[in-house]
Amino acid sequence: MARTRNAVATREAPPAGRAAGRARKTPTAKRPEGISPFTQPELWNGPGRHLLDLDHVSPQEITEILRSADGMKEVLSRRVRKTPALRGKTIVTLFFEASTRTRVSFEQAGKVLGADVINVTASTSSVTKGESLLNTVRTLESMHVDVLVMRHPHSGAPYFVARHVDAAVVNAGDGTHAHPTQALLDLYTIESRLGGVAGKKIAIIGDVLYSRVARSNIWGLSKMGANVTLYGPPTLMPPDLPDLNPATGPGAVVHAASMDEAVDGADAVMMLRIQRERQAAGHLPSMREYSQVYGLNAKRLALARPGALVMHPGPMNEGIEISPDVAHGAQAVIEEQVANGVAVRMAVLYMLAARGNSGR
Ligand code: NCD
Repeated sequence: MARTRNAVATREAPPAGRAAGRARKTPTAKRPEGISPFTQPELWNGPGRHLLDLDHVSPQEITEILRSADGMKEVLSRRVRKTPALRGKTIVTLFFEASTRTRVSFEQAGKVLGADVINVTASTSSVTKGESLLNTVRTLESMHVDVLVMRHPHSGAPYFVARHVDAAVVNAGDGTHAHPTQALLDLYTIESRLGGVAGKKIAIIGDVLYSRVARSNIWGLSKMGANVTLYGPPTLMPPDLPDLNPATGPGAVVHAASMDEAVDGADAVMMLRIQRERQAAGHLPSMREYSQVYGLNAKRLALARPGALVMHPGPMNEGIEISPDVAHGAQAVIEEQVANGVAVRMAVLYMLAARGNSGR
């Protein structure tokens, strides 16, 4: 609960300070009007040149990132997957939490663009909140980092860091709060498969309460006009999510009353992993019961539109939130999500790092 409120508070009161002052010095004002994030720096969350969530990113800017990802996909399809676009730039991935696909995806994205990519992993136990995090990023800062890609178990940590570094900060997942590049790659996958997002029914099912993927997707999907249906155990549904409705976008965000209602007529079904590492005990009686009541199986998927997409951000717990036949079936686009993630992250890194060509 408190965490969810924090997430909303972060949206309403983006951090200000040193970095916000610097953002005003970038040459954005001279650029012609358009949909570039550089013309609307305030929309990129507080300091204005970071990607911390999708709440402050406009639909036009989201579209611009997705179109840029089209170009990046073309680069990825070449025999020699390399461009010098970010040659001379340094990207640091700073992960305080376990990750396979997200960290590797950012690393690959940076390397294909010709940047130097340095991976730093830190164990959560060695980090005391606040001070030591600040020391870590200040050390990195002295190495002239252009983009800092950061994952942290505490919601809001990248916002704190963004106020203290010159580098552009990309939130690669902060606690239960946000995971904007996951939402962008999900949007990209839905759009490329279904021809668009507006008007589509997207069901997000499972542990919505603790899911940063769900939160960023709610912002992104509703901004792009999708109708988002949420469903999960009552103990894992954030009661204050409907409050986001007026601010999210033209799409609706509704809670379904049952699994069948959530899946019925859906254009895409996005299943979430139970975030056991973030939960207090007592949310669920048993995993067996969870999979029976809230799991996606072939029978339930038949209620969705023919050819509906089956999505999952990974890692999957097959047999719990999704049955193996559905996870690996013809409608699953889970591997495509991973592949699209590299192109989308290339687009994000390019937008944030290339700005330094004129501004730093
Ligand atoms: C997600 C995450 O870390 O938030 N995974 C990912 O980024 N691929 C979802 C999860 O861990 O369940």
